[in-house]
Amino acid sequence: MKMKLKNKVALITASTRGIGFECVKRFAEEGAIVYMAARNLELANSKAKELNDKGFMVKVVYSDATKKETYVSMVDEVIRNEGRIDILVNNFGTSDPRKDLDIKSTNYEEFISIVDINLSSVFMTSQAVIPHMASNDGGSIINISSIGGLRPDISQISYGTSKAAINYLTKLIATQCARDNIRCNAVLPGMTATDAVNEKLSDEFKEFFLRHTPIKRMGKPEEVAGTVLYFASDDSAFTTGQIIDVSGGFGMPTPIYGDMIEMKNKR
Ligand SMILES: NC(=O)c1ccc[n+]([C@@H]2O[C@H](COP(=O)([O-])OP(=O)(O)OC[C@H]3O[C@@H](n4cnc5c(N)ncnc54)[C@H](OP(=O)(O)O)[C@@H]3O)[C@@H](O)[C@H]2O)c1
Repeated sequence: MKMKLKNKVALITASTRGIGFECVKRFAEEGAIVYMAARNLELANSKAKELNDKGFMVKVVYSDATKKETYVSMVDEVIRNEGRIDILVNNFGTSDPRKDLDIKSTNYEEFISIVDINLSSVFMTSQAVIPHMASNDGGSIINISSIGGLRPDISQISYGTSKAAINYLTKLIATQCARDNIRCNAVLPGMTATDAVNEKLSDEFKEFFLRHTPIKRMGKPEEVAGTVLYFASDDSAFTTGQIIDVSGGFGMPTPIYGDMIEMKNKR
């Protein structure tokens, strides 16, 4: 069967673990030359080696999202090595649920630092990549946003604001770069079984979240990666500016749904 990303050059940020690493694997399986951007080079190199031992083409490039100058140096390094970037996955995103609360309780400095890092990593990395894509017949940018940027939460005001901005930025980039044959789409995971969820979210929060998820389980990182692959490949050649959630249908039914499920479970 034809590989979907044969010889394409892909750059994936924050990709040593979780959704980012699943994208690395999926893209490599589809024939891409994949650059794993990472702050932890030891971990990234060992994961790249595992994949390369199986015959894939995975390389490592340094970038720490807290050091903005590394967004540009990361892109420069890939361009120096390959001469082009066909696919960019802006996967980096962070927040601290203990400090990222509601409007009444969240410290402004904390708010703006999360909005800044999440949004700047997408803006600055895309800005660095776009001229190269434009001079090389175009490309595909995929932003990993969140269902939290679509459906307001009672908490996580900084993270939600940053991801909502990323959703709109996606549409703006799509509109402004279409004539350069650059597409830009966003994938919005719901609760996905990664280290971030295991380490940062309480069992109580997870339980409440699943009450409103018709497919009653957490997503798997590879399920998110499958949608990212769709946007990276020519299967979506006529699709741009779209934001799609991969969340098991979170928040789609009436809120009564969650209450009914709970009632039935108690019977
Ligand atoms: N999991 C979910 O439920 C969920 C839901 C909605 C949206 N998302 C979004 O999906 C994306 C990936 O999340 P995930 O759950 O896959 O995360 P994860 O499994 O916790 O992995 C986080 C990745 O980010 C890297 N990272 C953290 N801080 C970094 C920094 N300062 N510079 C460079 N890399 C850094 C980590 O590298 P190290 O190995 O060096 O720590 C790791 O590779 C994020 O944008 C997140 O907002 C996730």
